[in-house]
Amino acid sequence: MLADTAPRPISLPLHAAGAAGASHGAAEVPAPILPGEHFAAALVCFVIGGVGLIAVAGDLAAGMFFLPRVIAVVHLFTLGWIMTSIFGALCQFLPVAIGRGLRWPGAAHASFAAHVTGVALFVGGLATGHPAAVHAGACGLAIGFGVFAVNLAVTLATVRDRGLTWWALAGVAVFLVVTPAYGVVLALNLRGGGLIGGSRFAVVAAHAHVAIAGVVLLTMVGVAHRLLPMFLLSHGARDHAAWTAIALLAGGAAVLAIPGGAGVRVELAGALIAGGVVAFLVQAVTFFHHRRRRSIDPGMQLAAAGLIGLAVAVLVAPIALSRGLRDLHLLTAYVTILLGAITLFVAGHYYKIVPFLVWYHRFGPLVGTRKVPTVAELYAAPLARLDGALLAIGWLGVAIGIFAGRGDLVRAAAVAVAAGAVLEAIIIARVARRRVA
Ligand code: HEM
Repeated sequence: MLADTAPRPISLPLHAAGAAGASHGAAEVPAPILPGEHFAAALVCFVIGGVGLIAVAGDLAAGMFFLPRVIAVVHLFTLGWIMTSIFGALCQFLPVAIGRGLRWPGAAHASFAAHVTGVALFVGGLATGHPAAVHAGACGLAIGFGVFAVNLAVTLATVRDRGLTWWALAGVAVFLVVTPAYGVVLALNLRGGGLIGGSRFAVVAAHAHVAIAGVVLLTMVGVAHRLLPMFLLSHGARDHAAWTAIALLAGGAAVLAIPGGAGVRVELAGALIAGGVVAFLVQAVTFFHHRRRRSIDPGMQLAAAGLIGLAVAVLVAPIALSRGLRDLHLLTAYVTILLGAITLFVAGHYYKIVPFLVWYHRFGPLVGTRKVPTVAELYAAPLARLDGALLAIGWLGVAIGIFAGRGDLVRAAAVAVAAGAVLEAIIIARVARRRVA
């Protein structure tokens, strides 16, 4: 099997939607407001999450990952930054990925509204100690996830040509429903602890890994399969590894999602998920290896840093998870590495997706009529590199500081992460405002 590596533009209709020969999906490219509102909200959460990281630095250094204020910061990243970015990217990306745009764009605006309201209530309630807000937020999130899952599933059902990305996204649609089910139970349990009693931490681990493997990583495999070859100008890479990654990640998340005690089931799920991550890394390295463009731009450098972080996470996971609550520092450092890796991967893609969208909508139509900037000229590469360094080094420092139990190091490194988030938000906002002179 060969990957379809044709460097097609993200929103497909590059020069003219409707031009002769434009693909089927071209007519279904969403209005830029749909991905735009997701990306704007995600960047706001990224910045608040960075500031929150500074605030909980001492708790993290003490390994107190289960404190409500820490859970709040974790979900500013997972729900606010990562999931909102994923929803936005899928809104934009489906026409390229599967040849069809989201079936109901209106429902995507509704799921966005439920999602951001849910994040605000859930995180705000956790941070300020208001259980009613936490529960309402969890319900809002469940609605947002559910509506998006149905929208995605209905869209996928209409597609006949079912390739690798289709199967990855089919898995995502399933786990988009499973994830909030766990989340709502955990949110209800936070109040008195009576709902799941002593198995709280096993359920937290299952919830986090089902969400990350079943939703986030599966999306990354499916999306990267189309975007990495395009962004790297990589041709001719085989895609066996990506198929393996999808099968193992979906299988592992499914085994983990089945309620039940610890033991062989959890170990099997862990092995499947770890195998899926390794297969994804092999696929990504293959894409980088086959690239025609030798220099790697700031966005792809950040994405590569995220992939390195994923490799570290998969090495640390068996030790951290087998020691469990007996080694809170290692466990907290492991989750930090994992979420940091995904954060860097996502942050890198903003430097590719947003400039392209702005270029496509504002400058593309003028090609041939006047001089227009290239996509890469829409932002200053040195600033983007500085941003990448702040995020990557900052995140590394946070993880090392947690492992060493050094609150001062975690705080200093969290300042770098927050500065990186602010810088990225500023750069991307400036790109979004670029217009024809
Ligand atoms: C869909 C809505 C979600 C809800 C309502 C939710 C709710 C919760 C709750 C209440 C906890 C704390 C449980 C406890 O300590 O007893 C938790 C932990 C966690 N969740 Fe979620 N979650 C959701 C989605 C996600 C997603 C999408 C991810 C990852 C991408 C995620 C990652 C995590 C992680 C890593 C933890 C452990 C961190 C910690 O306890 O500080 N969650 N979740």
